[in-house]
Amino acid sequence: MAQLWGGRFTKETDQLVYNFNASISFDQKFYEQDIRGSIAHVTMLATQGILTEEEKEQIIEGLQGILRDVQEGTLEISDKYEDIHSFVEATLIDRIGEAGKKLHTGRSRNDQVALDMKLYTRDEIDALDDLLKELLKVLLQIMKDNTETFMPGFTHLQKAQPITLAHHMGAYFEMFHRDRLRLTDIYDRMNYCPLGSGALAGTTYPLDRNLTAELLGFYGPTLNSMDSVADRDYLIELLSAMSTIMMHLSRFSEEVIIWNSNEYRFVEIDDAYSTGSSIMPQKKNPDIAELVRGKTGRVYGALMSLLTTMKGIPLAYNKDMQEDKEFVFDAIDTTKGCLALFTGMLRTMRFNKDVMENSAKNGFTNATDAADYLVNHGVAFRDAHGIVGQLVLYCIEKDIALDDMTIEEYKAISPVFEEDIYEAISMKTCVDKRTTIGAPSKESMEKVIKIYENYLH
Ligand code: ARG
Repeated sequence: MAQLWGGRFTKETDQLVYNFNASISFDQKFYEQDIRGSIAHVTMLATQGILTEEEKEQIIEGLQGILRDVQEGTLEISDKYEDIHSFVEATLIDRIGEAGKKLHTGRSRNDQVALDMKLYTRDEIDALDDLLKELLKVLLQIMKDNTETFMPGFTHLQKAQPITLAHHMGAYFEMFHRDRLRLTDIYDRMNYCPLGSGALAGTTYPLDRNLTAELLGFYGPTLNSMDSVADRDYLIELLSAMSTIMMHLSRFSEEVIIWNSNEYRFVEIDDAYSTGSSIMPQKKNPDIAELVRGKTGRVYGALMSLLTTMKGIPLAYNKDMQEDKEFVFDAIDTTKGCLALFTGMLRTMRFNKDVMENSAKNGFTNATDAADYLVNHGVAFRDAHGIVGQLVLYCIEKDIALDDMTIEEYKAISPVFEEDIYEAISMKTCVDKRTTIGAPSKESMEKVIKIYENYLH
């Protein structure tokens, strides 16, 4: 047991209490941020004349040494310390002596941990954003290659109207683009520095909070010292944004799983991203997509957990808040892992373009266009709808597609049909005629692709 406090105690802490209270097993994850924050704090203390230049030099050198040694693996973060803050301070005092004891001047672990968590979150938001950007790049490439790869668009998981693979991927591009915007938004709202708030009521030292905020890349200092040490909103927002990312990945995974099934065969997942069965030799399973879908529950769980932890906490700091870390760390690692793996799977996935196009043809996805053909030849839409319904019934009985009917068969149902019906209901025409912005025609898609290209470069 090694604590930063103890002066007012007459008894040793019970070992079980100590273990229950300690956070070093997980908060060591932000040792780098803890040291970065301390260096800024000490730099400011010296500018304000609270520490001498020499003390500052000594402390910073000591802190940098600790950072280097931990990174190189020559200094082990020992769990005999209560938390990462205690470990760094105790190690510093051990190494440089008296000056080290001044590190914590004008600071509490409450504002320190608030700072560390913010620095950590900020770094991780950047990492998440990079991964989203990678995913968007892969999506854009698939879009560029497939503006004329026809496939059925679905509603109710029933074939509805023809679209292209580019159009389908574009829907996900939109989702993951919004996910990036959400991250930027969270970053902008949280990027204010809590350091200098002390335990809850600021400090009596003449700290320059603007300086520390600036040194650490924040927009400025937070404006209320109680809120500074008690705010975990940004973590809840991040968990919510990550839950949304996971929800998107999960929907996409579900589609990949369906598309990869023997019944659909729209895609083939690369061998490197699939797994086999221990008993059924023929199996090639989409485990990565299934795991991504499954892990979504973990991230939702973290969001619920932190919302619940925070709901009854009076101001200002309470130890409940230590519970923010494990769930947030796990949710971040999970989301990052899923993004990276999903992107790899998508990049290497093969699309069976013929199967997709045939599926669109055989699913009467051009039925709306057949009805529109009649309308263009003077038939009222409701009547046209009825006529095409008869065509579909006829095709189902004969097990053929609308495209396979002879012109005589067409005319037998309605004399309005002419030879140009085949052209009118071809996949290419059905898609090409949908030229409004956001629709699947090559023309519309190329405009959108340009916008996406500019956005990603
Ligand atoms: N390990 C603590 C946490 O994560 C650090 C803050 C401790 N502050 C306190 N007043 N006990 O929240």
